[in-house]
Amino acid sequence: MSTQTSEYKRITTKAVLAMKKNGEKLAMLTAYDYTTARLLDESGIDIILVGDSVANVVQGLETTVPVTLDEMIYHTKIVRRAVKRAMLVADMPFMSYQVDIKEAVRNCGRMLKESGAEAVKMEGGKRIVPLIEQLVDIGIPVMGHLGLTPQSIYKFGTYEVRAKDSSEAKQLVEDAKILDRAGVFAIVLEKIPESLGAKVSKSITAATIGIGAGVGCDGQVLVTNDMLGMNEQFHPRFVRKYANLSETMRNAFKSYISDVKAAKFPSKKESY
Ligand code: KIV
Repeated sequence: MSTQTSEYKRITTKAVLAMKKNGEKLAMLTAYDYTTARLLDESGIDIILVGDSVANVVQGLETTVPVTLDEMIYHTKIVRRAVKRAMLVADMPFMSYQVDIKEAVRNCGRMLKESGAEAVKMEGGKRIVPLIEQLVDIGIPVMGHLGLTPQSIYKFGTYEVRAKDSSEAKQLVEDAKILDRAGVFAIVLEKIPESLGAKVSKSITAATIGIGAGVGCDGQVLVTNDMLGMNEQFHPRFVRKYANLSETMRNAFKSYISDVKAAKFPSKKESY
């Protein structure tokens, strides 16, 4: 009988690969702060990603390009304090792993040593294979990221679905196989056709984690702020809203403001 996720005391790379083998879906969400990470971990999430989406949802930036390695280490470090069971993965930000292998290895090492992340995630295919091989050899687990790669926004110019034509789809399958052979334990597949997500998942040993890549992936990831409905301006097709926190929060803030203005807060019971 297959091991169910609840039976794992801690989620490790070995557990992720075993879950793929056993056909057990992986659930991953993002966190950038202690409280959210604690709630995610207590809820039984398998993987927590400190994504460079911190740039969009925390820092209010338009792209993920400006976020720095020090900022990623800071957020991962505070998330680390809350995580007991989930696997903690940190995104390597743009230009922290592109200059040369030596600098990239040093930066990935900093991420693990200073933040407590258990793996790093990086965007790209064939070009980053020599780096992945070195990291895996050293003992730094790597999660890949193919399809829509937001760090390359200025190259592609849009956030539209990737690999719709057959040559890009073929290249993506090739890249996934190459990353798999290089030793990644998982690959995020972002915004690609459902049939391609399923095809890649069947072609590699590493676990695929889809975001807008269909149900055929080995697991799914969403940005937590999006699935909680914290941003009314952002509603792409692939985001399912599990809550409407923007409305809940706004109503709470309005009630507080009106209570304070009307001197209805604090009450006698809330005073000393
Ligand atoms: O930065 C991020 O949150 C991500 C996920 C969307 C996979 O890369």
